[in-house]
Amino acid sequence: MKKMFIDDIETLELLLAHAIPEGIGNLCIPIIIYVVMFTVDWKLALLSLVTLPFGMLAMGIMFGIGGKQMDAYYGSAQKMNNTIIEYINGMEVVKVFNRDGESYKKFEKSVTNYRDFTLAWFKTCWPWMSIYSSLIPCIAFATLPVGAYLVLQGYSTLSHLVLILCLTFAIGGPILRAMSFVGKFPQLSYKIEELEKMMGAAPLIQTDDKFHGNDYSIDFKDVSFAYKEDDVLHNISLHIQQGTMNALVGESGSGKSSLAKLLVHFYDVKNGIISIGNQNITKMSVESLNEQISYVSQEQFLFNMSLMENIRLGKKNASDEEVLEASHKAQCDEFLNRIQGGIMAMAGDSGKQLSGGERQRISLARAILKDAPIIVLDEATAFMDPENEEKMNQAIAEVIKDKTVIVIAHRLHSIVNADCIFVLKEGYLEDAGTHNELLFSSKEYLKLWNIAQESAKWHVSAGGEKNDSINE
Ligand SMILES: Nc1ncnc2c1ncn2[C@@H]1O[C@H](COP(=O)(O)OP(=O)(O)OP(=O)(O)O)[C@@H](O)[C@H]1O
Ligand SMILES: [Mg+2]
Repeated sequence: MKKMFIDDIETLELLLAHAIPEGIGNLCIPIIIYVVMFTVDWKLALLSLVTLPFGMLAMGIMFGIGGKQMDAYYGSAQKMNNTIIEYINGMEVVKVFNRDGESYKKFEKSVTNYRDFTLAWFKTCWPWMSIYSSLIPCIAFATLPVGAYLVLQGYSTLSHLVLILCLTFAIGGPILRAMSFVGKFPQLSYKIEELEKMMGAAPLIQTDDKFHGNDYSIDFKDVSFAYKEDDVLHNISLHIQQGTMNALVGESGSGKSSLAKLLVHFYDVKNGIISIGNQNITKMSVESLNEQISYVSQEQFLFNMSLMENIRLGKKNASDEEVLEASHKAQCDEFLNRIQGGIMAMAGDSGKQLSGGERQRISLARAILKDAPIIVLDEATAFMDPENEEKMNQAIAEVIKDKTVIVIAHRLHSIVNADCIFVLKEGYLEDAGTHNELLFSSKEYLKLWNIAQESAKWHVSAGGEKNDSINE
């Protein structure tokens, strides 16, 4: 994406800014000179055109070779780019697993491939390039000997020959430059095609309408969804009443986060309808939908600006006091007092200067500040230590009063009091009900609950008591 939207756009800009005006300028000069030459002496003018077709032919052959290699060339450049990004992003994993050498080899291989491919391509082009670069400017090649012969035979005059020879020297350079721009056009159209392909991806289905639902209840009707070919959610139908606390539970990969992402309209559904207060979410603008929902995603992202500004993203016009209050509710005080600069400290690249739990609390503060009528929390307390989790749960309990809430949680103990718990299994909604109902009706829930009970008993022992050890 970066290559396409920054590097490629830059080359497009350069081509458009230079190829068009300079190309036209460099073509106009030879045309005007040829017109003058033909008016002065058409025979000598014709002679100066002799080498041009051969030069053009060599150039055409070279561009033909280039055109065929273009896909492979850009493919290999893209691969090199991706490997570099992957190598840098994955540095921590590479180090931890001692995969330095292996990973570097992959990176090195992609660079070597790119170099070999480009060199091989250049080598096939070099002879043709030499031919046309020599032939095109060599306009006096036929004019001088044959022109002299014509003068001697009385078909032309010496003054005409001298004038034409002088003029020919002004043609070669501009033609060569104009032709080198021609070679850029296939590149230009290739890049434009690639960009159009990306820009042509189907946009989210939405309208300019505002949200005018009856209330903040949520309905999924026969919703199926696939990121690629295979469905990750199958015919999900559920109803969430306004002002209730709901939970989504299920094994890892069962589709909980995907379901939340559909509700905030990150993606369009494959089939079915999602509505809020009986208004289909595709029948409103994404902005209006976003105003109704505070969503704390599983992956926390902070911008590299102050923590204050990061929280303020939740509500554009919030005063400093409101931001501080939200950060207080989200239990941020403890670390804000500790870090240098407090709430004015920078978050670092993608928020990397904070720990996972701290990032999570900042994201929560953002959602608290937004104060939307629907709240979706995806594993919002997953990184917390027990003490902070307890405080956080109290804070959440206060914030979610009278709101429609969906909590996604692996720790079932935190959601036993939910008004309704939805159990997902491999993308299917297996069952729904309260904790006590599900213990009887849902095998999957009972299984998850038993695992949760067991893990609550875990502690790390120095060995010996096998039953209580973490090996369980
Ligand atoms: N961006 C994506 N592209 C392709 N497939 C994806 C993507 N995100 C998730 N999936 C797939 O969709 C399925 C459901 O993923 P999802 O993240 O919804 O699970 P989850 O229930 O939230 O799991 P967890 O408890 O681990 O967070 C998984 O099989 C996953 O591989
Ligand atoms: Mg998830």
